[in-house]
Amino acid sequence: MAKVLIIYDSVTGHTEAMAKAVAEGARTVKKVNVDLKKIGTPFPLTILDAADAIIIGSPSRYSHETEVVRYFLKAVADYNKAGRLKLEGKIGAVFGSYGWDGGWNIEMLENNLTELGMKIGGSTVLAVNAPTEKVLDACRQLGKTIADKIAK
Ligand SMILES: Cc1cc2nc3c(=O)[nH]c(=O)nc-3n(C[C@H](O)[C@H](O)[C@H](O)COP(=O)(O)O)c2cc1C
Repeated sequence: MAKVLIIYDSVTGHTEAMAKAVAEGARTVKKVNVDLKKIGTPFPLTILDAADAIIIGSPSRYSHETEVVRYFLKAVADYNKAGRLKLEGKIGAVFGSYGWDGGWNIEMLENNLTELGMKIGGSTVLAVNAPTEKVLDACRQLGKTIADKIAK
């Protein structure tokens, strides 16, 4: 069965609420297995290999993704470069929350995914602090859009 992995960091819960909404949307698509993981909890990097699509979320911290997201992406890039992951061709997308800087760095996460050889399959969803119901709907839609693309 096709798999979508949603992976995120969240310090005060805003991005976590978005991640759960992305998962909810993805779960509406039949024949797709949805996995939701918070960076900082233990899991093997090989779960990225098992996914057909990877959606990543981060809050803004000092105009960057959080330190754990940066560390995680560096680890993924190193592992991928070493041939221990094959992320090329997988579908990716991004979401996140910011307070005041426009969330440009969250959008830049797309570059990290394309540098890994992934294809962006849906528009980035951004929230200003806590996501509104409209933003949560956009998150659900993002999850569904990506899951639809990989449904087999
Ligand atoms: C220590 C700290 C630093 C932050 N730095 C930024 C920042 O540089 N730019 C910004 O737009 N928001 C910044 N914020 C606001 C958070 O990105 C915003 O509240 C976000 O919704 C938090 O998401 P989370 O609840 O998933 O952690 C900062 C918040 C904290 C607590």
